[in-house]
Amino acid sequence: MERGIVILGKLARSALRSQRIPQINHPLAPEIHFKRQHSRSGSDCKEIWEMLSQLPLFAGGEIVRGFGRGSKELGIPTANFPLEVVKSLPESLPTGAYYGWANVDNGPVHKMVLSVGWNPFYNNKERSVETHMLHDFNCDLYGQTLKICIVGYLRPERSFDSLESLIAAIRGDIEQAKASLDEADKAKLKEAPYFTEKLCSSK
Ligand SMILES: Cc1cc2nc3c(=O)[nH]c(=O)nc-3n(C[C@H](O)[C@H](O)[C@H](O)COP(=O)(O)O)c2cc1C
Repeated sequence: MERGIVILGKLARSALRSQRIPQINHPLAPEIHFKRQHSRSGSDCKEIWEMLSQLPLFAGGEIVRGFGRGSKELGIPTANFPLEVVKSLPESLPTGAYYGWANVDNGPVHKMVLSVGWNPFYNNKERSVETHMLHDFNCDLYGQTLKICIVGYLRPERSFDSLESLIAAIRGDIEQAKASLDEADKAKLKEAPYFTEKLCSSK
């Protein structure tokens, strides 16, 4: 199996068309949010808004080892994508916390939260895409295939004064994700054919 496989927008849109799934309405207006957080210029905000309006995005690939801090330090284990998958996501996808649906090896689809970025609290040197599934697997998932559907955006990534504050922020993301994914238009994406299809390589 290819390590890095990603299927984006086009497939998502055709899946949506075939299922008559309505476009997603975002829970907050990222344009306003980004202006407040980062004082971005008007054109930057427009690009971010345009990028987020491409959601949902579907992506998949093998689960690889991260730094292992998610389970050891945070008590919030994450499944990491290999660099090939990270690089195949649009560079313009804003860094931050997202929510959506995910499954492992075409199994049951679960709610998830996702981090896209450099983890400023840890000052990572590479952009990473890490998925925390709202399900207790009780085993290592390394080497298995993770598929995700990025449904909505929660907040920009940031650094924190303490580990406790980072954990509290992610716990807040999880609560928001749970509620948002219960909304009918977002819940429908759990049934997307992508989650049971064979993955095709982008290469
Ligand atoms: C929903 C979510 C939001 C996150 N937000 C941030 C953030 O704002 N800042 C940050 O430095 N790291 C953030 N992280 C990333 C964690 O720091 C990361 O999952 C942790 O370092 C574990 O990474 P590792 O498995 O590669 O060791 C977030 C993770 C998740 C799942």
